[in-house]
Amino acid sequence: MAISLDFKGKVVVVVGGTSGINRGIAELFAAQGARVAVASRRQKKVDETVDSLQRLGADAIGFTADVREPKELESGLEEVHQKFGDFDVVVSGAAGNFPSLANDLSWNGFKSVVDIDLRGTFHVMKAVFPRLRKPGASVINISAPQAFLPMKAQVHVCAAKAGVDMITRTLALEWGASGVRVNSIVPGPIDGTEGMARLAPDEKSRKSAIRGVPLGRFGTPVDIGNACLFLASDLGSYISGAIIPVDGGWSQNNCGMMSEHLGMMMERKA
Ligand code: COA
Ligand code: NAP
Repeated sequence: MAISLDFKGKVVVVVGGTSGINRGIAELFAAQGARVAVASRRQKKVDETVDSLQRLGADAIGFTADVREPKELESGLEEVHQKFGDFDVVVSGAAGNFPSLANDLSWNGFKSVVDIDLRGTFHVMKAVFPRLRKPGASVINISAPQAFLPMKAQVHVCAAKAGVDMITRTLALEWGASGVRVNSIVPGPIDGTEGMARLAPDEKSRKSAIRGVPLGRFGTPVDIGNACLFLASDLGSYISGAIIPVDGGWSQNNCGMMSEHLGMMMERKA
């Protein structure tokens, strides 16, 4: 089969695609000629992202939806399907995170992150399946190292992202017969993102985070976008059910001192 990283005319949907890593992913697909749809809760962020994708020359649209609300997702995705047709690539990356020790976390704080990350991922999966190109579609869930490495002050995220990766692996089993591949990408510490601003809010903790990365630098949204392009292209056509760290080796190093850093930061706060 011819190898192609050309996404001209391909339909790419990025849920949670209006900032940070996911927006970077949407921009990379747009630059490769894809038609791109993005979704998130806030109209302003959706509009700004659609503008920026159009400035890259892409046919781009967006809609607002909270992944906790399946009906909002259904109606937005149906509009995209009416306009663009079957989805070739779906990236599901909406998430919430804040550091909190378990004993300080309210019932609703735990629920809120599990609702967005875990239940939200299931909602996205179920809502996109009827609209996927079959065979051929590639679905990518954006996970986190907390899915397989316990981390202090992250019990809600650890629990939710572990579930996300099990959704990936289970749907790879169920959807394989339809020719749909499902994988997780696990970003490392990505510079300039909301996620890193929340976990490493000052220079000292940023430096300590970099020290834990064997390759010695923060990642960028382009690093993660490149992995998505590869996975969604013909080059990735035999990869399904994989949980793929793109993290400069960070997770092999237990994410450096991140767990201790978060534990101490939250104990000081208490
Ligand atoms: N520490 C402890 N608890 C917190 C918190 C914090 N920093 N931020 C929120 N919570 C708790 C709230 O107190 C609330 O619980 P309560 O009702 O018992 O008081 C619960 O979490 C929900 O908060 P709320 O602000 O109502 O939730 P939301 O649904 O509007 O927002 C969040 C969801 C909390 C995850 C919010 O941070 C968000 O929207 N995040 C998206 C961006 C993001 O996190 N990016 C990084 C991705 S890695
Ligand atoms: P971000 O900029 O905050 O991106 C989150 C995106 O999801 C935004 O577009 C946000 O837009 C949307 N969103 C949040 N809650 C939503 C909801 N309930 N419904 C619909 N959309 C929602 O975060 P980021 O740091 O780039 O992280 C992106 C992904 O990478 C996440 O899955 C995160 O877990 C993962 N990750 C990040 C890092 C890192 O270093 N940053 C490391 C490992 C994994 P709205 O606010 O408009 O809804």
